[in-house]
Amino acid sequence: MKQLRLIFILVIAGIMAASLASLVWSQEQKALEGVMDLKSREFGKHQRPPVRFDHYLHETIMRCRVCHHDFYVFSNRNEGKGSKCASCHKREINKDIPIPLLTAFHNRCKGCHENYIKWGRASGPVMCGTCHKKT
Ligand code: HEC
Ligand code: HEC
Ligand code: HEC
Ligand code: HEC
Repeated sequence: MKQLRLIFILVIAGIMAASLASLVWSQEQKALEGVMDLKSREFGKHQRPPVRFDHYLHETIMRCRVCHHDFYVFSNRNEGKGSKCASCHKREINKDIPIPLLTAFHNRCKGCHENYIKWGRASGPVMCGTCHKKT
């Protein structure tokens, strides 16, 4: 009986290890494909699901600076680098950064999609649930 229980436990542990490995693998795979799940730590506990963002797709249709505008702010014209928005934008405004993180994301992402729709061009989502998609 004892042996049977041990085998059972080993099988369960095996299944758990395998699913953990595939989870890690799928995250790495997404990164390779240039897809990110945006979930900034600065927000703390999120009210909405993370936003799946195809960085590669955007990279191919516009310049880095459109989003990583800090290339301008600090006269850093090196387009080979990007940084997290939350490295400057915080939840609350301060004397250096007058735009809160939420506004930074929403204005940049949604703002552009709205413009493209206005111009009658192929665009991205503008509704809460289509960016913050439940998976
Ligand atoms: C174009 C895409 C887009 C749309 C449309 C959008 N958001 Fe967001 N939202 C984002 C991104 C990107 C973030 C930053 C996520 C991160 O890094 O944590 C964000 C962050 C948030 C956050 C802070 C993080 C959290 O989950 O607590 C809230 C709240 C939020 N959005 C609510 C909304 C609501 C409500 C709407 C509709 C009125 C909406 N969003 C529409 C892209 C979008
Ligand atoms: C449509 C907007 C957009 C464009 C265009 C764009 N990026 Fe990004 N990039 C982002 C967002 C959003 C993130 C995630 C930032 C965050 O989590 O705060 C990011 C993250 C990155 C990161 C990772 C930063 C880190 O520390 O995790 C790098 C590197 C980067 N981008 C480089 C580039 C380069 C190089 C280009 C041009 C070839 C480019 N990006 C074009 C929006 C964009
Ligand atoms: C190095 C610091 C820094 C980083 C990193 C940064 N920002 Fe900003 N951002 C600023 C400052 C400072 C301002 C206000 C002055 C200005 O408008 O240039 C600002 C203003 C903005 C504005 C309002 C003005 C405008 O240009 O429309 C938006 C939207 C914005 N940031 C989005 C973002 C997004 C999205 C990211 C990440 C992809 C990001 N920022 C990364 C410093 C930064
Ligand atoms: C300057 C314009 C611009 C900015 C900034 C921008 N987008 Fe987009 N986005 C587009 C366009 C154009 C498309 C449609 C591309 C196509 O289908 O050819 C798109 C498509 C998308 C899609 C649907 C395609 C897919 O990945 O399945 C999502 C989701 C999306 N964007 C999220 C975001 C988020 C999140 C941000 C901010 C971090 C952002 N976008 C910033 C222009 C923009």
